[in-house]
Amino acid sequence: MGPLDRPRDGLCSGRAGGPSVVSVRPGGEVKVSADQLGDVLDFSDRREVTPYRPPTAPRTARGDRWWALPVVTVVVLLGFVVYGTWVAFQNANYYADPYVSPFYSPCLATSCLHPTASFIGSWWKWSPALLVLPFPLFFRLTCYYYRKAYYRSFWWSPPACAVRDARFGYSGETRFPLVLQNLHRYAFYLALPFPVFLSWDAAQSFFFPGGFGMRLGTLVLLVNVFLLWGYTLSCHSCRHLVGGRVDQFSKAPVRHFLWRRVSWLNVHHARWAWASLFSVAIADLYVRLVATGTIHDPRLF
Ligand code: FES
Repeated sequence: MGPLDRPRDGLCSGRAGGPSVVSVRPGGEVKVSADQLGDVLDFSDRREVTPYRPPTAPRTARGDRWWALPVVTVVVLLGFVVYGTWVAFQNANYYADPYVSPFYSPCLATSCLHPTASFIGSWWKWSPALLVLPFPLFFRLTCYYYRKAYYRSFWWSPPACAVRDARFGYSGETRFPLVLQNLHRYAFYLALPFPVFLSWDAAQSFFFPGGFGMRLGTLVLLVNVFLLWGYTLSCHSCRHLVGGRVDQFSKAPVRHFLWRRVSWLNVHHARWAWASLFSVAIADLYVRLVATGTIHDPRLF
């Protein structure tokens, strides 16, 4: 008797219409008759479902401060969101010749204090930051590293290793809105021009009204654009773009060279993510403080 021919403990009655046949062919292939397959499907329809009971055991046996990292992550990310929202809507103090805040670059409206290219024209009456910020925001929101950080910290799914999930249902990234995470590759394409524009801004920051030179603000913008390039180029989608779908690297030496460099950056993607997040906020704050005359911008040469 095969496993499918066993009695079913009264949960599912046998089908009428002849005996079930399970035969084993030479080579180990198992053949199940159509009747037998029907029995299996019926059986799966009628199986008993035990109501879910939440676990009563403690959430974790860990005795260390496993909650510290999720809490710090929540505080920092929320702080950035609050600061970024305030900056985006303020629509002032984002330009101090020759510095422009990274939150307002490229500046695409005629109303900009320092337009990069006035594609949008004068009809745009709101903050020009709102025209550009959705793209880097989309890039960060769908970033593979940030997903891990905020799934753990905000949803506790799971909050740390060997700690039980706060949520009992899990559908992965298969439903709205999380299914949008799968668009990260396109977010990468949309975000790629931003470090180019910010590199241009950093180059412009050597040219002061009084002539060529370098001040602390120049250094701040240079460090920021360096970290943003590191974050963007270390992206997993970038790594796939340069090295994906290649069967033999020996026949694609340039892509192999690029893939090795991007892979080296990619190992530290989380660090690039955090460092660039801080540097963007610091660069904006520095420009803002100079623009309002709150701080003196010291000259380096
Ligand atoms: Fe983090 Fe692409 S930016 S994976």
